[in-house]
Order: sequence, then C-alpha cells, then structure tokens
Amino acid sequence: MDLHVLDSSDDACFVCANILSDYLKTTPQAKLGLATGGTPEAVYRSIIDHKVDFSQVRTFNLDEYIGLPENHPQSYRAYMEKHLFSKVSIATENTYFPIGGGYDLRIKTVGGIDIQLLGLGSNGHIAFNEPGSSFNSKTRRVKLAPQTIQDNSRFFEPGELQPVEAFTMGLATIMQAKQILLLVTGQHKAEILKRVFDGPVSEDCPASILLNHSNVKVIADKAAAEYLTACV
Ligand code: PGA
Repeated sequence: MDLHVLDSSDDACFVCANILSDYLKTTPQAKLGLATGGTPEAVYRSIIDHKVDFSQVRTFNLDEYIGLPENHPQSYRAYMEKHLFSKVSIATENTYFPIGGGYDLRIKTVGGIDIQLLGLGSNGHIAFNEPGSSFNSKTRRVKLAPQTIQDNSRFFEPGELQPVEAFTMGLATIMQAKQILLLVTGQHKAEILKRVFDGPVSEDCPASILLNHSNVKVIADKAAAEYLTACV
C-alpha cells in the first residue's frame, strides 16, 4: 500500500479530490466507487470546486441502509444527493446503490470500477463488511456490528429509529476495483489504521484484505497516521 500522510484532514481530502478530478478529466466515462460517512464530505466539496464534467460518469456507492425511505436525510442516496449529485452534471440513472440484486453483475457489465474511494470503520470495516466477513463476499444484505451502530448514531436524532441492517458491496467486489483510495482521518482511526498496515491479512480486520491489492493509495492525515511513523 502506498501511504501519503498530509498535515490535516482537509489536506487529505483535497489530495483525494485531486486524484479523482484528474482522473475524470482524462476519462470522462469513468466508473467511480463512492463512499459516504463523515470522512469524505470534504472530498466531495473539493470535487465540486474542480467543476468536472460528470455527464458520462457512472457511480457505484458502497452501501445503503435497509429500513430508511430513500429520501430520509440519513439514507446514503440522500447523502450523495446533498454532498455531490445535486451539484454536478450527473444523471440520476447513472448513480447506483446496492439495493436488491444484480449489483456485482452491473459493475462487471460496465467494465468494473476504475477508482474506489473507501473510508475505514473504527472496527476495521470497509463499506459495511464487518469483522468476520468473508474475503470472498459479494454484494449482499448484512447486519451492522454494534460498534458501527454506535459510531453512526451521531448522525441520528436521539430516539430516532436507526437502521441495523444494510446492503453492502462485498470484500471480493471491492478488491476488483482497479485502483483504491483509502481515506483515513482523525486520531480515533490511528489504532485501527496501524492494525491494517501491520496485518496479518485476516477476516477479523476486513480492511487488511487491501494488503493483497496491487494498487491502493492510503491517504491519511497526521493524526490517523500517528502510529505509522516507521512506514512514512
Ligand atoms: P466515517 O465512517 O467516515 O463516518 O468515520 C467511515 C466508515 O465507516 O467507513
């Protein structure tokens, strides 16, 4: 894995956005894998600033909650509309979410994902592949780990019903992306990022599967990379 450490979280997001925007400028028909969560919000803000043409781009999101209406503010479709889709020239029919079946086939049919943006869960998950997920997993319905439910509770009002299940791209699906950008920011991710780097490659730490991918850039801020000084 190719590690890039930036001074701040904004800088890390800016670098990610530059990589994605530069790719889109040379590849107008790009297929992008997109992530939600707190980490990538600034990536999308910066991509919008680049004024890239999205008219021929197709996007494949990593996951979607089960049990929320599509227009619920915490659905990942609503997140993407708010942070990116409503602000660029993308057609809704070119934006895909893993709801129902056939997602992996759809990705394959368009030639695969060129660049996959990933965040890292505090328990080592990527997308909603929680610890114990099979490395052979495809897109499927999953139960969220208690840690994930707790981490994401900050996005829901107190007392509001929070989903405990989701559809997620599988680990084998993610590994088929041609290039992966793992964006990790904040001191609270330092320990798990070190665990990913140190290995072993194990289903107990789903993100460790990325050690087996030949084209991964890890873009981290100093806080998240705190325990990786030996590698920098
Ligand atoms: P976060 O989530 O960006 O909200 O920390 C990351 C993840 O769970 O993948």
